[in-house]
Amino acid sequence: MDKTISPEIMRLSNPADREKYMNYKNADSGVLVFDTIHSQLRELLKTRNPEKSLDEATIERLMQTHLAGQSAEEYGVWVFYPWTKRMVHILDEEEFVFLRTNRNCYKITPEEQKILALKKIGIIGLSVGQSVALTLAMERGFGELRLADFDTLDLSNLNRLRAGLHQIGLSKTIICAREIAETDPFLKVKLFNEGIDENNIDAFFNEGGMLDLLIEECDGLDIKILSRYKAKHYRVPVLMDTSDRGMLDIERFDLEPDRDIIHGLVGEIDVSKLKDLNMEERIEILLPMVGLNSLSERVKASMIEVSNSISSWPQLASAVVMGGGATAEMSRKILLGQCTVSGRFYIDLDEIISEPIQNVTQNNDANLFEKELSLDTIKSLSKQLNLNPSKFQLRESEQQLIAEAAIMAPSGGNTQPWKLYFEKGHLILFHDIYFSHSLLDFNNIGSYIGFGAMIENINIQTNALGYQTQIKLFPLKKQPKIVAVISFTSSNSVPDLSGLIHGMKIRYTNRNYGVREQLPVQFFEDLQMVVKHFDPIKLHFITDPDKMDLMGDILASGEKLVLMHPEGHDDIFNKELRFTKEEVLRTRDGLDVGTLNITKGEILALKIASSRKTIEWIDKIGGGEAFKKMTKKAVASSSALGIITIPGYNAEHYVNGGSAMERVWIECNKQGISFQPVSQLLFLFARLNHGKGEGYNEDYILKLKELSIRFKQVLPLINGEEAIFIFRLGHAKEMAIKSLRRPLDKILMK
Ligand SMILES: Cc1cc2nc3c(=O)[nH]c(=O)nc-3n(C[C@H](O)[C@H](O)[C@H](O)COP(=O)(O)O)c2cc1C
Repeated sequence: MDKTISPEIMRLSNPADREKYMNYKNADSGVLVFDTIHSQLRELLKTRNPEKSLDEATIERLMQTHLAGQSAEEYGVWVFYPWTKRMVHILDEEEFVFLRTNRNCYKITPEEQKILALKKIGIIGLSVGQSVALTLAMERGFGELRLADFDTLDLSNLNRLRAGLHQIGLSKTIICAREIAETDPFLKVKLFNEGIDENNIDAFFNEGGMLDLLIEECDGLDIKILSRYKAKHYRVPVLMDTSDRGMLDIERFDLEPDRDIIHGLVGEIDVSKLKDLNMEERIEILLPMVGLNSLSERVKASMIEVSNSISSWPQLASAVVMGGGATAEMSRKILLGQCTVSGRFYIDLDEIISEPIQNVTQNNDANLFEKELSLDTIKSLSKQLNLNPSKFQLRESEQQLIAEAAIMAPSGGNTQPWKLYFEKGHLILFHDIYFSHSLLDFNNIGSYIGFGAMIENINIQTNALGYQTQIKLFPLKKQPKIVAVISFTSSNSVPDLSGLIHGMKIRYTNRNYGVREQLPVQFFEDLQMVVKHFDPIKLHFITDPDKMDLMGDILASGEKLVLMHPEGHDDIFNKELRFTKEEVLRTRDGLDVGTLNITKGEILALKIASSRKTIEWIDKIGGGEAFKKMTKKAVASSSALGIITIPGYNAEHYVNGGSAMERVWIECNKQGISFQPVSQLLFLFARLNHGKGEGYNEDYILKLKELSIRFKQVLPLINGEEAIFIFRLGHAKEMAIKSLRRPLDKILMK
């Protein structure tokens, strides 16, 4: 007998038991005595005669007959609980079980109760497991229970585990077993205090008779998988409650011996390798197992907050208690042969009991940009330009080369919001808002920076062909769709930009982390020389490590704000990101997650964040620090931040700023310096400062204003200079995957 969990059961007809009883009863023993045998007997007699209404005298008479000369003190058993030093007088097993299960009738019949009394159930993991165990014990849903958990009780467990404060530090198995013994000392409970591992799992299943049911409620992935393979091997059914949305899994390996574990959601797994997996590899197996999209929004939000504002997954007493009830019910049905199904089921109260749905008004804005610019529109807009035929005509192959260079230009989110059209020897650049309409592209400014880069590429390629360009920006004042008309001339005094052709081809966004090392002074001077050609565009640098980190935090906060904004969120997840190779190759635009330098865990966080409701909840609880990590780390691994400014807010300046950016970017990449824009906050600022914060709520405006103050403290600009583009520079490894471009024939309209 294990005195830590098993009470001593004493029958006074046995002299040895009587002696112990007398010792405990002795006032000096410190044992508390509880004797309610009379009331138990009274209840027993009433329960056995439910049809009669017994008066006191009859009960007294029946009781005397029942005792048959035995003293009440000697009747039944005395149970001593060493851990509480309590001695309790109760009916002996048969009468005790009869009375204790009587109110189960006939939801559970006495015959069923007898069958259940022969069943052996194993429970691994004692959070939900404790709730199941106690419910099963109350119902008397088993004859023997094997409890496995290596953990001891922490104060933070008490939000869902039934225990007392005096039990902190005590083994969870012991706490559970004692509670069961205090309800019913006749139930058999066996403990596996060290938890389950490869060495004891067989004993857990079959020592003292094979389990009839496994209830798996543990956290450890390896044991989750191992215990299922064993259950399959021994043909033992498995039940699991995941205390979120009332998710309940039933796996009938007893009836379906070939059934894949966890409904085939994880495939074949080599259990021996599970222990060595890192957190991300574990999550990769765990998530399909649980089903990311099936989790509640609050759990998803909490997942993002783990290791940021909370230390572990949330689990609520209500869910644990409900899970205990549901699992105990299914356990009974399985053990009595009343349920044969396998599968995953939800008892989701949010879904079952839901608030009436409000009428949602449709946002018509979305329809405004639902069509790509067609060739017909492009032709009719071109006509409005009334262009004179150019005296100088490019050859078809030259047009092709120039267009190819043009579309290599970078664009925010790789949206490539452009269409090119040659008309009468001139090249017209069209803005196709269908691709770029977004929170960040306020007044098209992000697109215009991209157009600036495109114009610079066109310049470089045209120069390499020995010609010159003449550029007219926004030739039709009321038609922002036409960004530029570029004319070509042949000239003897063409500046030699041929050295930039190679740079233009190798230019790309490098999001790898580097090491923070000072860059040579000469390098910064070279970049300033480049920007001189684009006067009044200016270039600033932040190289002081502390200032860079301050700015890193500010920029990261901006990126978090984009994600928190409904439109920003929609842009990222429904327009920008490409999660699969198939999507990348089909669209050839947007951001391939493979180019983002993010770990599998971070991709997962992104997938979680793709639910707007999850983000709303994170916003509500003031969370989301996790979303700042990548940019902060990126800036911390950089050598300098560069900032391009314009002398005032206007479209032409943005285009010219974009051209300067492209030349700076090319120069950096030519010199082997990595370049990544970290510019999103500036576009949020533009909407705040020049668009009266349209689309922002008060709280959002407040947060942006605060960031704006911090931004100005790190980078004070004077005389109306406006920062339009920020990038980080460093020594980072080459990226393995580069972004694609849409096919030329989809952009160069003919
Ligand atoms: C206006 C503009 C803003 C951009 N902002 C960001 C940014 O905030 N973060 C980032 O990683 N890349 C940013 N980029 C880089 C683009 O995503 C990138 O240029 C595009 O995906 C094409 O890839 P490539 O530069 O490798 O050719 C930006 C580019 C432009 C032109």
